[in-house]
Amino acid sequence: MNAAPLLEVQDLVKEFPRPRRGWLAPRVAPLRAVDGVSFTLARGQALGLVGESGSGKTTVARLVLGLERASSGSIRLEGRELTTLSRAEWRPLRRRVQLVFQDPAGALDPRHTALDCVAEGLAIQRLGKPRERRLRALELLVSVGLAPRQANLYPHEFSGGQRQRIGIARALALEPELLVLDEPVSALDVSIRAQILNLLHELQERRGLAYLFIAHDLAVVRALCPRIAVMQHGKLVECASRDELFARPQHEYTRALLAAAPRAR
Ligand SMILES: Nc1ncnc2c1ncn2[C@@H]1O[C@H](COP(=O)(O)OP(=O)(O)OP(=O)(O)O)[C@@H](O)[C@H]1O
Ligand SMILES: [Mg+2]
Repeated sequence: MNAAPLLEVQDLVKEFPRPRRGWLAPRVAPLRAVDGVSFTLARGQALGLVGESGSGKTTVARLVLGLERASSGSIRLEGRELTTLSRAEWRPLRRRVQLVFQDPAGALDPRHTALDCVAEGLAIQRLGKPRERRLRALELLVSVGLAPRQANLYPHEFSGGQRQRIGIARALALEPELLVLDEPVSALDVSIRAQILNLLHELQERRGLAYLFIAHDLAVVRALCPRIAVMQHGKLVECASRDELFARPQHEYTRALLAAAPRAR
């Protein structure tokens, strides 16, 4: 087994150019959306990434997924540097890191049945014959708590929570080692949230998945993540075990988040 952590992020920086306000206006410094972020994630572990809107969480996710190129710094998957890979080099790695979106409705093709939405990833990676893919997709839908008879329904025929289950099944289709979950329950009713968090917990135990779990508030990550990183203005201001963080928050911003959090379950 490889001794390197599953994911290792070091001094990661992402700058976005800012438009000048006119051709005579002075040059403006780029926006540092991610500013020297470092963390590691072991196999099967869940790391929570919290912070206010605009703090850079999604940008970290997009960098890890290879959807955005880092300005500097390093991202290693089992010791392999990702930031310098070409698209072609990314392709075989892509299945190992999958994304679950906040808004499952936007992520699912409305013209595809639930089954096809899940089977699609398998088809893109040319895994198995069409019949095998459909069987596999059906198994996955059942494993996230949907009934077999629902497999042929279209996304709009499901509730928000059910759609998120489809999104999760789809992310799992390629048997990733790491799931990046970008606010996966933020769009859901509070009552449905707990169900999806339970499902994620169960899947993690069953499959030994690692999670990078992004959320606005601490209450959501607390349920699932034994380690939590707090982001503010592109920087990780604190990264600690859940118990440490809740008992002895070191950073002022973490304390403010704690004060704002409703009492966790
Ligand atoms: N493609 C882009 N071009 C320019 N600026 C960007 C781009 N993507 C993100 N930004 C900026 O980078 C900063 C961080 O954005 P990001 O989406 O990572 O924040 P976030 O923590 O995910 O916020 P939210 O909680 O609202 O989802 C913001 O100021 C945003 O406007
Ligand atoms: Mg975001």
